[in-house]
Amino acid sequence: MSDIPAPILDTFNRPFRDLRISVTDRCNFRCTYCMPAEIYGEKYTFLAKKDLLSFEEITRVARISAELGVRKIRLTGGEPLVRQQIETLVAQLAQIDGIDDLAMTTNAYLLPQKADALKAAGLQRITVSLDSLDNDVFRRMNGNRADVSDVLAGLEAAEQAGFAPIKINMVVQRGVNDQSVVDMARFGKERGYIVRFIEYMDVGTLNGWRLDEVVPASEIVQMIHADMPLEPLDSNYHGEVAQRYRYADGPGEIGLITSVTQPFCGSCTRLRLSPEGRMFTCLFGVEGTDLREPLRAGASEAEIAQIMTGMWQQRTDRYSELRSSLTKPREKVEMFHIGG
Ligand code: GTP
Ligand code: 5AD
Ligand code: SF4
Ligand code: SF4
Repeated sequence: MSDIPAPILDTFNRPFRDLRISVTDRCNFRCTYCMPAEIYGEKYTFLAKKDLLSFEEITRVARISAELGVRKIRLTGGEPLVRQQIETLVAQLAQIDGIDDLAMTTNAYLLPQKADALKAAGLQRITVSLDSLDNDVFRRMNGNRADVSDVLAGLEAAEQAGFAPIKINMVVQRGVNDQSVVDMARFGKERGYIVRFIEYMDVGTLNGWRLDEVVPASEIVQMIHADMPLEPLDSNYHGEVAQRYRYADGPGEIGLITSVTQPFCGSCTRLRLSPEGRMFTCLFGVEGTDLREPLRAGASEAEIAQIMTGMWQQRTDRYSELRSSLTKPREKVEMFHIGG
């Protein structure tokens, strides 16, 4: 691995370390908290192919990011596996000097077809989104697109392909799937998956988010602890999003993503690249900064690096820390557009 260059710091001294790449705005699910079916129906126009960054353009941005200090890349969407030949992009990213963590967040529906190819291409880690093991609850949450058994088949395929440990992301919404928390924890414990319980966030503008639908992480921990005693664990690395706990009576761990009740903006080192090449320095960004135009106009490596550096150095984002003092919701990019 190449030496880590002097970090590029933003206005709060946070280094630029992670790149999250959304490869498509399309998804084969319609999760109610992300892409509600009544809005993203037949008539909704997704990005045209020509408007998406090509694999070569994405790889170029990733290579420049690595030169600027990025060590970790996560592929997201929409659903990353609906982008044709995504394993080709994985193979290109896996070659980049300096990237020592290459991961993907997926809904797992296409993993039975794709897991082996992703592993062979050099993908290192997989996180699967799954909001309940109760089929009725799950179908209601994913817009009636898939059964729990489809996701279980995807998890199985990922394991067969050699991905380990696999993480599961569960967004917890009060009155919707909070009764599934303990079951999911037990399932992860038995199967060796690291389940991460995510506080439902006010991302985007279309999910009708309400604070009373958020189940605080502290409550989630209590629910699980009452059944299977937990002990807190230290972070794996500075800036880790999840707070970790392990089971007191044996192997297994869980994570809590506390973006609403205990924001972690102070250690946020993430830059997000949208499918059409806009860069967002926050999940709750509005417009982003366009990179596609300079990429297509023939900008040099140094010029692209300069745009990215300048944007990071001006960065002031800490939306989750400010959320409670914001009086009314403001415009922001949709989650499926820039990934989780
Ligand atoms: P590891 O690399 O395995 O530690 O995972 P990660 O930190 O990259 O986590 P992942 O991408 O699976 O994130 C889990 C969830 O946390 C996402 O789906 C989002 O809901 C939320 N999340 C991730 N990054 C951020 C962030 O920067 N801000 C906020 N507010 N939420 C985030
Ligand atoms: N709140 C919290 N997490 C969300 N995700 C999508 N929308 C939200 C939301 N409103 C997460 C999903 C998935 C990832 C892509 O983003 O759980 O794991
Ligand atoms: Fe698709 Fe993931 Fe959004 Fe669900 S949360 S609609 S699976 S992108
Ligand atoms: Fe980072 Fe924005 Fe999330 Fe805060 S709200 S952790 S600044 S992405």
